[in-house]
Amino acid sequence: MSEIPVYPPSPEFVQRAHVKGMAAYRDLYERAKQDPPAFWADIARKELTWFKDFNQALEWEAPFAKWFTGGKINASYNCLDRHLATPRKNKAAIVFEGEPGDRRFITYQELHRLVCRFATVLKNRGLKTGDRAIIYMPMIPELPVALLACARLGIIHSVVFGGFSAEALKARIEDLGATVVITADGGWRRGKEVRLKDAVDESLKEAPQVRDVIVFKRTGSSLEMKAGRDHWWHDLDAELSKDPQTEAAAERCPAEPLDSEHPLYVLYTSGTTGRPKGVLHTTAGYVLQTMMTMKWVFDLQEDDVYWCTADIGWVTGHSYIVYGPLAAGATCVMYEGAPDYPAFDRFWRIIEKYRVSIFYTSPTAIRAMIRQGDQLPNSHDISSLRLLGSVGEPINPAAWDWYHRVIGKGRLPIVDTWWQTETGAIMISPMPGATPLKPGSGTLPLPGIIADIVDSKGEPVGENREGYLIIRQPWPSMVRNIWGDPERFKQQYWSRVPGCYFTGDAARQDEDGYFWVLGRVDDVMNVSGHRLSTMEIESALVHHPSVAEAAVVGKPHEITGQAVCAFITLKRGDWNHADLGKELRQWVAKEIGAFARPEEIRFTDALPKTRSGKIMRRLLREIVTTNAVTGDVTTLEDLSVVAKLSSQHDED
Ligand code: WTA
Repeated sequence: MSEIPVYPPSPEFVQRAHVKGMAAYRDLYERAKQDPPAFWADIARKELTWFKDFNQALEWEAPFAKWFTGGKINASYNCLDRHLATPRKNKAAIVFEGEPGDRRFITYQELHRLVCRFATVLKNRGLKTGDRAIIYMPMIPELPVALLACARLGIIHSVVFGGFSAEALKARIEDLGATVVITADGGWRRGKEVRLKDAVDESLKEAPQVRDVIVFKRTGSSLEMKAGRDHWWHDLDAELSKDPQTEAAAERCPAEPLDSEHPLYVLYTSGTTGRPKGVLHTTAGYVLQTMMTMKWVFDLQEDDVYWCTADIGWVTGHSYIVYGPLAAGATCVMYEGAPDYPAFDRFWRIIEKYRVSIFYTSPTAIRAMIRQGDQLPNSHDISSLRLLGSVGEPINPAAWDWYHRVIGKGRLPIVDTWWQTETGAIMISPMPGATPLKPGSGTLPLPGIIADIVDSKGEPVGENREGYLIIRQPWPSMVRNIWGDPERFKQQYWSRVPGCYFTGDAARQDEDGYFWVLGRVDDVMNVSGHRLSTMEIESALVHHPSVAEAAVVGKPHEITGQAVCAFITLKRGDWNHADLGKELRQWVAKEIGAFARPEEIRFTDALPKTRSGKIMRRLLREIVTTNAVTGDVTTLEDLSVVAKLSSQHDED
């Protein structure tokens, strides 16, 4: 441990920071720890704008939490309207750059106008509080507009990442019981159009409950509009302008006063079964904690230009492009396309162009940049940067060093933020004006977060502080339920250690109390910072007529962290392995999305199993980790011997 370098914050950073120095952090942490609900109640009253004050900070009937009960609030109001009475009204809320190079600067006032108009459009379609909307859009400003318009009316939204296939989209539309789909003709990615509306059409072949599809025109390519069901966004919007009174009313569309616990959104994420689970977040607690972490973790100041490179299809985009930054009144850069288009310096160009001061990205993106050499960032003026962030997976020391040295010029703090779709907001992270950094560690839990490490029986660990990462007390932005499946919610997160939240991650705590997240302990993989379930890919594969059995494991990968590797046994037949390998990869792209495509497919005569018939993934993981077969992705292996040997003594 002694060789790990430690980087304390610079005196200049500390001076300007919201939380100055370790003593200030410790104070805040200890105060919160004594009575977390009281701590959160205090800041909820100070930081959020309420239509009606709440009576109780927390009602906790484990594992079901209700925060700020009795209160009335609206997320869209907190992100928009309340800024309009301040000088922020003319500040840029969104600085948008499309992949082709088009730009838009949208002030808070203008964003409010766009959101009100679109909320009126939704109202005019008969949508109301409690209805569900699926949003399947490219990274353009109309995506946050759609989210905030839904939130304004209490319509529960679920964003589906544009990389998901029609099949995956359909499963989500059905599970949510959505009656409207908001989409676009397409978006731009590496100079090509990603055709979203086509996938929507495909997914809606059998979905009678979807009455409306609203289509934003982004690429202008030709497509079919189904009469009665499909409407152009601009046509519905134009109807609002038919007379000045209608228009004025549309642009004032009031935000509904909603219960603190009104469902804000459902975001589907991969779990340990073949079926994705809908993580449910509610209103007040979620907005509070995403907003507070903008101050604590990103040290957001009024003049910052903040850029999070995530896609709004994932939780990072929900919390740190939309709700957190807008509630905090930030100027957010939003970029539509790929980091390597037209060249690998796109990120540095954007930072230079808009004078970005806070930059939040993933270790995968950093590793991809390292490969391109220092010359690209060095040829741009990125001196506006003052803080760097990382999220999605543990950041390896080499990537940390490069980020710190080449992008941070050896002086910028890096906040390594640990959290999950389920936690809603950042949980473990440095406070950049306080916490000394250690490369690769998320450092310490934020105020109000009681994190701990336990062994496989849920007991506290001893001297060697390594085991499962848990959270001992409820927190405001926590997952409230799995949509339509409370049993799975209980079982998945709350059954290991009664009353405590089980993260599914392993971690170690060092002598300074710093947390080092080691990775998942369940069947969830992390590929390019995207969560993928082994079971979900397996169940896609066994749908293919040639496949008898499939076992999927994550294999270490230099750039993406992990890569998908599938072991397959085939049904009887005369198969050409090379062709079939290609076909199966394509098949997964169709069933889930191209980003889930196995990098490697290995055919085998048998899969190693325990006597009770469980596939021994641990063994397969060992095989892919130790024997670095690359290139030939369709090797046939005889695992039956290993299986026979191992099943004698492995019932794990
Ligand atoms: C992993 C993304 C180490 C972790 C916000 C977690 C991390 C999963 C970090 C959640 C980090 C995320 N250090 N591991 N800074 N950030 N993870 O739901 O395994 O897409 O459980 O949320 O990513 O992924 P999710």
